[in-house]
Amino acid sequence: MKRLAIIGSTGSIGRQTLEVVKDLKNHKVVALSCGHNFSLFRKQLLEYKPDYAAAIRKTEELERDFPEITFFSGAEGIEEMLEAATPDVVVNGASGAIGLRYSLKALEVSRRLCLANKESLVCGGKLLIKRAVEKGAELIPVDSEHSAIFQLMRGKDKPEKIFITASGGALRDYSIEKMYNASLKEVLRHPTWSMGNRITIDSATMVNKGLEVIEAHYLFEYDEEDILTYICKNSLIHGGVIYSDGVIKMHLGKPDMKIPIAYALSYPKRGYHSDYMNIVEMSLMLEEIDYRKYPALELAREITGISSKQIAYNAADEIAVKYFEKGAIHFGEIFKLIKRVVELIPETDPRDFDEIVEIDRYSRELAEKEVAKL
Ligand SMILES: NC(=O)c1ccc[n+]([C@@H]2O[C@H](COP(=O)([O-])OP(=O)(O)OC[C@H]3O[C@@H](n4cnc5c(N)ncnc54)[C@H](OP(=O)(O)O)[C@@H]3O)[C@@H](O)[C@H]2O)c1
Repeated sequence: MKRLAIIGSTGSIGRQTLEVVKDLKNHKVVALSCGHNFSLFRKQLLEYKPDYAAAIRKTEELERDFPEITFFSGAEGIEEMLEAATPDVVVNGASGAIGLRYSLKALEVSRRLCLANKESLVCGGKLLIKRAVEKGAELIPVDSEHSAIFQLMRGKDKPEKIFITASGGALRDYSIEKMYNASLKEVLRHPTWSMGNRITIDSATMVNKGLEVIEAHYLFEYDEEDILTYICKNSLIHGGVIYSDGVIKMHLGKPDMKIPIAYALSYPKRGYHSDYMNIVEMSLMLEEIDYRKYPALELAREITGISSKQIAYNAADEIAVKYFEKGAIHFGEIFKLIKRVVELIPETDPRDFDEIVEIDRYSRELAEKEVAKL
C-alpha cells in the first residue's frame, strides 16, 4: 500500500482523486487537507479515516468529533501535516499560487508529487524542478494535457515540438464584443470539462492555456514557440508531439480528469479501469486559436520564462477572477487587469521562495489598486 496525502481534498481534483483511489486499491489515504468546506471534509474524514488532517481555518468541532485524527491548521499547518504523515505520494489539488509552498514541502517529504496545481510551476518553476532533482523525487503532471505529453514522451528521442489543446471555453462561439460583457453564469457553462470555478473562468479567457504553456515550458524544457496550442472543441485530443521526420503522435481520450489523476498515481503502470470510446465515432479536429479573442494566451507566451511576470500574470488573474465572480468587473476587464499588472512588475528572476512570495504579494496589491481604476 502506498501512503497518500491529498492537498485540497474537497476540490474538484481532490474529490476525483478519492474516487480514483477506490479503483486503484493500492493507496492508503493517510492525510487530507481542505480550505473552508468543512461539511464535505467531515464526510471525507468519516469515510477515509486518515491519521492526519489540516484546514486553512482551525476546526474545533472536527477536532472534537475525530479525536483519533491529528489536526493542523493554516498554510503552515498543511506543511506540518505533510511532514508528520510522511506520505509516499502527495496529490496537490489546491488552487492558486499558495500551492507552491505545498509542492515544495511535498518534494521534501515524499517520493512522488502528483501535481495538479499548475500555479506551482508558473510561480516557482525553476525552484520546483531544482527541488525535485535535489531530493530525487518524481514530479508527475496531473493536468490532462501535460499528462498526455508526459505519456507520449516516454522514449529517448525528444520531439521537435509539442502541442496542447484547449476547448475554447464557454464563450468560444461568442463574438469578441459579446464576450466582453458575458455573465458569470454563461462563463461557468464549460462545454466539456467539469472543474472548479477559477479554472472554468480561466478556460473562457484562455488564461488557463497561458498558465499551461508556462507549465509545459518548465516540465518538458521547450521554448514557448515550440509549445503549440490548438482548439479541440470536444476535448478528445489532449496533446501531441511532433518529430523531425514529420511523425506526429497524439494522445486521445475522454475528457475525464480521473484518468490523468490515476496515471500520475499508478505510473509507470496503468492501474485504472475505464471504458474507452469507439474510435469511429470520434470526431478528431484541431483548429487554430484566434489571439484577438484570447489575448491572455498571447500575453502568457510573451512572458514565458520571465519569472516575475509569470507570478504577476497569475496573481492578477486570481484577483480579477475574484472580482468577476462578485460581479464587480466585466469579463473583458479580466484581461485588462492582468495586462496592466504584468506591465507594472519589473523583469526579475527571484532567487528563492521568499522573493517569489514578495512578488506575488506586490502583484496582488497592484491588482487591487488597478481594479479601482477600471
Ligand atoms: N478541476 C480540474 O479538472 C483541473 C484540471 C487540471 C488542473 N487543475 C488544477 O488543479 C488545481 C485545483 O483545481 P480545482 O478545479 O480542483 O479547484 P477547486 O475545485 O477550487 O479546489 C481547490 C481546493 O483547494 C482548497 N483550498 C482553497 N484555498 C486553499 C488554501 N489557501 N490552502 C490550501 N487549500 C486550499 C479548496 O478547499 P475548500 O473547497 O474546502 O475551500 C479545495 O479543496 C488548480 O491549480 C487547477 O488549475 C484542475
